Amino acid sequence: MQMDIVDLTANSSATGVDAHEQFALDVLTGLCSSPKQIPAKYFYDDNGSRLFQQIMHQEEYYLSRAELAILDAAQHELPKLVEGENIDIIELGPGDGAKSRLVISGFLRAGRSVNYYPIDISAKALDLLANNLPKDRRLSVHGIIADYTQGLRYARALSGNRQLVLFLGSNIGNFDTCQSQAFLRSVWASLAAHDRLIVGFDLKKDVATLTSAYNDSGGHTRAFNLNLLRRINKELGADFDLNGFQHFGVYNPVLGAMESYLLSVRVQEVYIAALERSFGFEEFEPLHLEYSFKFLEQDIERLCDQIGFGLERNFYDPKHYVVDSLWSVHKNKSLS
Ligand code: AVJ
Repeated sequence: MQMDIVDLTANSSATGVDAHEQFALDVLTGLCSSPKQIPAKYFYDDNGSRLFQQIMHQEEYYLSRAELAILDAAQHELPKLVEGENIDIIELGPGDGAKSRLVISGFLRAGRSVNYYPIDISAKALDLLANNLPKDRRLSVHGIIADYTQGLRYARALSGNRQLVLFLGSNIGNFDTCQSQAFLRSVWASLAAHDRLIVGFDLKKDVATLTSAYNDSGGHTRAFNLNLLRRINKELGADFDLNGFQHFGVYNPVLGAMESYLLSVRVQEVYIAALERSFGFEEFEPLHLEYSFKFLEQDIERLCDQIGFGLERNFYDPKHYVVDSLWSVHKNKSLS
């Protein structure tokens, strides 16, 4: 599959903070916080994207399998619900393209022309994708290397077609409630009335099922977490000892979220050259890396409504582990 690619991260302006400097500042803020933390968005360097692909293939990690089953069944329905001879399918964080392929094929089979815009911050992530997409002369693929909001604005500026945005895989779970609201509102703002959004949510379920999904026996989740320390070592000149930290994935029932921590197994100091200073860790001090929020149906309905979308249809896997929720953009012309 041929794909043209635009890199919106390449031209950071002379006055702006560049990505490397922002990473250093976010690590500084995080390590000065109590408890210490690193924002989850930094998981996804090229190596991290590859490690996450491995998590997706683990038996315990039910999310990917469940969502593939949902989309396999929904691919025939979606073209009936989303109109337009020419449709733009814009995907935020497309992964390996296995899910994208199902949605795109559904529209092609219904005789529609598809412009597919995968948006990802990692160029490697877009490489992973190309082989998995259907080959069809009515499909054109335009990769966008950018953060999601920037990429969406760019895609909107290119086209007046009906747009269907895909935000799958429970990526939204990394955001807390306020961040979800702000992010979804920015998606809403980049869309026109009657455009659609599909958001993949992981539903609340038995704690044992959740816990094992984030503590796979193959140690892939552990490797994924430790890779963030490796990235800080490589990009910011730090000296984290990866053997000095233990992976701990636990469900917090008050927040309704899985949380990933690395625990310092001993008293230690870590020096970070880019910040010209060190940070001390106590014995068993936690470093917080990730939230993966889990939802009830009523949480999803409320969120959808609060942002300015209308919930059109929920698609479930047979076990009701995951839901892909199809939302339509509501806009009141007199207010714009
Ligand atoms: C990519 C954010 C959906 O939270 O389930 C998987 C990332 N972290 N195992 C998730 C992840 C540990 C994943 N998301």
